[in-house]
Amino acid sequence: MNVTDWNAIADAYSEIDDPEGRAVLTFIRDKLATLRPKRLLDYGGGDGKFAVLCAETLPLQEIVTYDPAPRMTSLARSLCADFKQIRVSETIEEIESGIFDVVTFNGVWMCLTSREACLDVLSDIARLLCSDGRLVASVTHPCFRTCKFSNYSTDFNTRDYFNDGTLFNVTIYDENRELHIVDTHWSMTAMSSQLNESGFVIENLYELPRSTNGSSQHDASLWLVIVARKL
Ligand SMILES: C[S@@+](CC[C@H](N)C(=O)[O-])C[C@H]1O[C@@H](n2cnc3c(N)ncnc32)[C@H](O)[C@@H]1O
Repeated sequence: MNVTDWNAIADAYSEIDDPEGRAVLTFIRDKLATLRPKRLLDYGGGDGKFAVLCAETLPLQEIVTYDPAPRMTSLARSLCADFKQIRVSETIEEIESGIFDVVTFNGVWMCLTSREACLDVLSDIARLLCSDGRLVASVTHPCFRTCKFSNYSTDFNTRDYFNDGTLFNVTIYDENRELHIVDTHWSMTAMSSQLNESGFVIENLYELPRSTNGSSQHDASLWLVIVARKL
């Protein structure tokens, strides 16, 4: 199984209709309205859609969006061009440490294929946050990978639940097209211990309510949102 080349599929990912994705992003935007950050970093921010959603609706002084895939950065540059408060960063090195009240991390954890890579990224996020800053991470819920959602399915096998780092195929689709990606599975235990090791304590877990999970199965949740505080 080849891991996803996000640079190569940036345009296709940006174009595909993804109502579940938007529902979780709106949910997180509403959490941010409560947390009232002045400075927000969207780490692995892709094409910048979430930065735009926040710029349009929240009184933020500064939003930085960073993604390592150059094509994602270039899409973000054009999408965010009209928003003075958004800065699109090409490299992580050009972002100042210790200044962000909140770092969002949407759909990125499943792109990281080793425990070391997860610890590196989470420690980097801790470095960028101010003291007491919050990490708000959204991941596809590791317990519901075998459920069918309206525009998302996987070939994950539940017997691999405790095999952290297992790769699985994901299909995202709308009426017109399909996109195939390869994601990495991290169990709840793995994510929680990675957070602890990188200097975070979990404050809240949200399993999105039925109205936003997009599932024909009413007992399933596509997205899990983790709010963690930097110690
Ligand atoms: C599923 S997309 C999500 C994009 C965006 N956050 C969203 O919610 O639409 C995953 C993104 O993670 C980025 N990514 C992959 N590895 C990363 C890493 N080590 N650090 C930061 N971002 C990474 C990819 O380039 C890609 O844009």
